[in-house]
Amino acid sequence: MSALTDLYQQIGGCFKCEIARSRCQVVPGEGAENAEIMFIGEAPGWHEDQQGRPFVGPAGQFLEQLLASINLKRSQVYIANVIKCRPPENRDPLPTEIQNCHAWLDAQIDIIKPKIIVTLGRYSMARYFPGKSISKIHGTAQKRDGVVYFAMYHPAAALHQFSLRQDIEADMKKIPSLLAEAKNIREEKPPPQQLSMFEA
Ligand code: URA
Repeated sequence: MSALTDLYQQIGGCFKCEIARSRCQVVPGEGAENAEIMFIGEAPGWHEDQQGRPFVGPAGQFLEQLLASINLKRSQVYIANVIKCRPPENRDPLPTEIQNCHAWLDAQIDIIKPKIIVTLGRYSMARYFPGKSISKIHGTAQKRDGVVYFAMYHPAAALHQFSLRQDIEADMKKIPSLLAEAKNIREEKPPPQQLSMFEA
């Protein structure tokens, strides 16, 4: 059994939060175990809860279009959420739910070891860019401990709002060069602050 499959089984047995009891299926995440890019959204919605897979509804279709714009398929990246169970009525995740799921996401990151973590929306942004506003930092990156963190709007928000849609499309197109830069930097080990798209 792979480390990820083993982890999925453990996540499936988690009932720390009340919402675990109302879920149809747990949605741990999916994608390549050796993915260089990991996307982190917010929480499963109705479609995800039905299928046990992240980003399979309208926001997921848009995410797939965005990936295609940089010649990637979803099977080549890893996609997860901050929390693994669907909040009822698609309400925002509660701080306790985020806290309870924290270790699962950390374990996924430890196994996959992505070069870039792309945060989709406010909740995953808050984990890596605390205190920042998404309208200010979307499309910017920071490198910490060998990992590049890149903030983007959530596809669901961008789907219906034209200005955000233009922003998310433009931000997605930055990922290939960011990945190339991140790889060079890791191999050559120069000082950490040298990436051109990085936030000051
Ligand atoms: N929105 C998310 O944040 N995650 C999903 O899996 C689906 C929609």
